[in-house]
Amino acid sequence: MHFCVMLHWKIKGSGKEVLVLLHGFCEDHRVWYSLSDELQGFTLVQIDLPGFGESPVMEADLSIWAKEVDAVFKAEGIEQFHLIGHSMGGYVALAYAEAFPNQLKSLCLFHSTAYADTAEKVEARKKQVDFIQRNGVSPYVQQLIPGLFASDANRTLLEQQLAQAKEQSVVGLCAALEAMWARPDRTAVLLEAIYPVLLISGSEDTILSLEAQSELAAMPKQCSWTVLKHSGHMGMLEEPKLAAQVIKEFLARLA
Ligand code: MLT
Repeated sequence: MHFCVMLHWKIKGSGKEVLVLLHGFCEDHRVWYSLSDELQGFTLVQIDLPGFGESPVMEADLSIWAKEVDAVFKAEGIEQFHLIGHSMGGYVALAYAEAFPNQLKSLCLFHSTAYADTAEKVEARKKQVDFIQRNGVSPYVQQLIPGLFASDANRTLLEQQLAQAKEQSVVGLCAALEAMWARPDRTAVLLEAIYPVLLISGSEDTILSLEAQSELAAMPKQCSWTVLKHSGHMGMLEEPKLAAQVIKEFLARLA
């Protein structure tokens, strides 16, 4: 059977258990490289979401993005897997879990939330679209990326991430901002989850409060919650070894 797949993806490893990795805003599949090096023994499916990396821009609707992600699994013949989403990738993972709950073996929200944007956040995102359209990607990400890392962040790591963010496009960033402000609250996905959930947070994350993260951790029937002590919003880069260990221990408990 032939499947029409619009997205770009990369597979690493050939283990029995499949882990799908969805990157966050201003990122692409490369954000997972350090973590992937620590996740030996799994099949890792690293997908570029619409408008990022090598994937084309699509309609600003995370439910549509989730369907495009599903087309990758159909093309690869993957039926069941563990889904891990970083921040915006977590929003897509939740949209995916809402539409296709039976395909998930587990769900990991990595610095992400099931709450919708507040009215203030929506307004801020609209201003960001305006800024990006007038000034381009570089000045925008120059302001954004340093604040995603913990205060004592490794400069090389930060610069590397900034360089990758600068490669993203104006249309991709603007479509993603619109898709994020339009997304609904998906706390029901956590409350009704029929699979175990893992939350990974960062103690220095300035975007997600630990208080709100602890509310989310109380929602699923089965939930593990870890706070990375030396991470901001980028734990997969800031503490890849520890993050991988948390994920491996979570998966080992499911086996
Ligand atoms: C991300 O890292 O994907 C963003 O922080 C998501 C957001 O802006 O809500």
